[in-house]
Amino acid sequence: MPFSATDRLFVLTGAGISAESGLATFRGSGGLWNGHRVEDVATPEAWHADPTLVWRFYSMRRRDALAAQPNAGHLALAELERQMPGRFYLCTQNVDDLHERAGSHHIHHMHGSLFQSRCTRCNAPFPDAATYETTLPTCKVCGHPVRPHIVWFGEIPLALEEIYAELARATALLVVGTSGSVYPAAGLVHIANQRGIRTIYAGPEAPLNAEAFDEILLGPATEVLPTLAASLK
Ligand code: APR
Repeated sequence: MPFSATDRLFVLTGAGISAESGLATFRGSGGLWNGHRVEDVATPEAWHADPTLVWRFYSMRRRDALAAQPNAGHLALAELERQMPGRFYLCTQNVDDLHERAGSHHIHHMHGSLFQSRCTRCNAPFPDAATYETTLPTCKVCGHPVRPHIVWFGEIPLALEEIYAELARATALLVVGTSGSVYPAAGLVHIANQRGIRTIYAGPEAPLNAEAFDEILLGPATEVLPTLAASLK
């Protein structure tokens, strides 16, 4: 057993945990959407060049996420949180809401949330599940364009201080379903190593930063995570 119920667990998830719910991973799908590279629809430059294209991309992702259901991997992480009250922190790179719908509470979306938007001037995020294909949304207060509340390539992840503080308190780091190619998320394992925190990766293939982990549990999230949660009981 790579960690016990008395550990303080920091979990980092990536697109892989939602793969078995039918949501495409980034690198797995070749990084393409309707012939566009993800970098061409998920950057501030893309937003400035073609906001309609960007909103179409996120409208499609909103529809896909709404149609998806949490899988056994999401449910197992919610179960782990119940087994480790006050000693569990979930940091996800995912913008879907499947962790919340599975019952996770102590969760932070470091790359933003699909079901929030924000005014490009006022900046305050608000709940928004609408889709925008032709008419783009504008702020009801100041009239400026409203954008997805997503951290795009080249932007800074949300609440990094909180993430580093939670990692510093942890005794074990469990990373699930992320290719280890996007920083700073991919660097959390190195910080954990510097602090002597035990590190475990779970997923069907070794990530790019595999050599940094103490233990690799090879398999899909829906198999590895329920086994982990069951062994803690
Ligand atoms: N269970 C667990 N992991 C899986 C599964 C599964 N069933 N299927 C695939 N994976 C793993 C793949 O092996 C791969 O390592 O999920 C990972 C997906 O990697 P990426 O597509 O690179 O996604 P991610 O690492 O989350 O991307 C990071 O990049 O595009 C940006 O902001 C976006 O948050 C995203 C970030």
